Amino acid sequence: MRTKVAIIGAGPAGMFLGHMLAAAGIDARVIERRDRDYVEGRVRAGVLEQVTVDLMHRLGIADRLVAEGLIHGGTNLSLDGELFHIDMAALTGGSTVTVYGQQEVMKDLFDAAGPRGVDIVWNAQDVALHDVDSDSPSVTWTTQDGEPIRLDCDFIAGCDGYHGVSRASIPADVLKTFERVYPFGWLGILADVPPAEHELIYANHERGFALASMRSASRSRYYIQCALDEKIEDWPDDRFWDELCLRLGPATAAKVVRGPSFEKSIAPLRSFVSEPMRWGRLFLTGDAAHIVPPTGAKGMNLAVSDVTMLGEALAEYYGSGSTAGIDGYSARALARVWKAERFSWWFTSITHRFPEMDGFARRLQMAELEYIKGSPAAQKTLAENYVGLPLEAA
Ligand code: FAD
Ligand code: DHB
Repeated sequence: MRTKVAIIGAGPAGMFLGHMLAAAGIDARVIERRDRDYVEGRVRAGVLEQVTVDLMHRLGIADRLVAEGLIHGGTNLSLDGELFHIDMAALTGGSTVTVYGQQEVMKDLFDAAGPRGVDIVWNAQDVALHDVDSDSPSVTWTTQDGEPIRLDCDFIAGCDGYHGVSRASIPADVLKTFERVYPFGWLGILADVPPAEHELIYANHERGFALASMRSASRSRYYIQCALDEKIEDWPDDRFWDELCLRLGPATAAKVVRGPSFEKSIAPLRSFVSEPMRWGRLFLTGDAAHIVPPTGAKGMNLAVSDVTMLGEALAEYYGSGSTAGIDGYSARALARVWKAERFSWWFTSITHRFPEMDGFARRLQMAELEYIKGSPAAQKTLAENYVGLPLEAA
């Protein structure tokens, strides 16, 4: 079997790239280890930057996004229960973010895959990459029935997330990695109750961080910072709601509508970048190349900005034979990645309670939040990063 681009992983990065290449008439195949229900069922991102919204429009898969996505022109910060609003649209010349769950994005990408000719192989076992540094790379896997398959290709796009095989195929003496692991996680719930506030609240409280988010006018997504060794079983709904309300403070707590959660999970926080994002005929994209702590809502959006750049570069290569785009991909993508890494690290560091924090560190955090509250310049810096830096500016 032969294709032009073998795409490893059918998460946001792999599926957006699959659609971009199909739209450009470039033969590609997406190879996914799990099944559709598994990929679509993972509760993850909720906030889309303009880059992501624009790509969905360009690909013609934005009907539900337009009908159901919630456009937010602002966000809220909270310090020990006191709320202040950041008018992102006013500070950025009209930029906004859109609340629309990653699960919905995946559904739209999968529903449109068949009609658009995006070819997906599900349940591929033992996926392996071969001869990546030669002119004739290939991918092998085993089907669910035990049949071995080999796919020859021109290029491989490694879109298989943090635990995938693609990054591991780059020799250790080529790959440089940079990492910060945070001493806490996020305990998140989904519940079919109206959100406490119209826009999101990022709360710094003495007891730890909390985030009030949503999926729709009738579905809320809440997170609280927790210890890494915390067990879900120790967090029945009542305990979660009580702790959330303490951290959001009495004024917001009075608006929190409680209800049974139907999803509850703990995610660790990590900053991670691997360089370069290209080796031979392999390109890394999204979580396969980098991880951000979720505080800035950047992870999926970064995956989309990577594949936007890679899709353009591959279209240029197959259109004109020029290798300028694919040769420049790693440096161009990394420039934007590091800015998002910086923002996500900074936003995490001013909103969370660190175990080693003493009175001095806590007062610095409070001073920084008070400074943002009082300074339009500081608010503008936060806003332009939060809504997402333009691709060209990277
Ligand atoms: P993934 O989503 O990890 O997809 C990789 C795919 O590859 C998977 O389907 C996997 O099954 C497959 N795969 C893995 N190994 C193999 C293999 N060996 N062979 C074949 N296939 C393989 N981001 C935001 O932008 N905004 C947010 O608000 C936000 N909130 C978040 C909240 C939480 C709690 C979490 C955990 C994450 C959040 N993120 C957010 C991050 C976002 O979900 C990820 O950055 C995004 O899913 C990355 O997409 P990806 O396609 O690169 O990787
Ligand atoms: C959500 C997740 C985030 O990481 C974030 O910063 C904002 C919202 C969410 O899941 O809704």
